[in-house]
Formats: sequence, structure tokens, C-alpha cells
Amino acid sequence: MNNWKEIAPVEAIPPLSARVVKSKDGDIAIFHAGDGNFYALDNRCPHKGGPLSEGIVHDCRVTCPLHNWVLDLRTGAATGADEGATRTFEVKVENGKVWLRA
Ligand code: FES
Repeated sequence: MNNWKEIAPVEAIPPLSARVVKSKDGDIAIFHAGDGNFYALDNRCPHKGGPLSEGIVHDCRVTCPLHNWVLDLRTGAATGADEGATRTFEVKVENGKVWLRA
């Protein structure tokens, strides 16, 4: 079972942006989505491994910077006609801080 790790104050990850965290599972991208929630995804696009943290965040989705696949931040799944998903991780906000379980 993975442990919760404190990542950053909520204000340190502004809305519609992301921060990359190193973990034993590789780089994890933590997104502050348009719904105000935080989501954590493996930082590799299921298409060809593009760095999702460098994509554009809109609503609860991120557009991969390499070939514009759009992934749902809540599920890690590709949307539209594209298929595949990147791994998701648990994230929570507590005491004004963002926490990641990884
Ligand atoms: S690597 Fe993300 S769309 Fe191609």
C-alpha cells in the first residue's frame, strides 16, 4: 500500500496548471483542473508517451502537447475516437496542502 505524501500548498499549483512529482512509479503529473479539483496521472500520454504535464488543461481534460490527444483527468482515458488510458493516482487536499498517494 502506498503512502500519502505532502506535495505542495494548494496555491502553488494554480488552476489549469500542473506540477510534476518524481515517484518510484516514474513521473506523476498533478493537475489543478477547471472544476477546482486536483487529479494525478502518469505523466506519459498513452499514445506515444508525450509529457502530459506540458499540455493545455481545460475543464477536466488535458490536451497532450505532442499530437493533441485529449485525456479525461478524472479517469486518465483518451476521449473522442482515440483509445487508451494513462494510469491515475489518488490525490487529496487537506489543510490547504495537496497530497499524493504514490
Ligand atoms: S504522445 Fe500524446 S498525443 Fe501523441
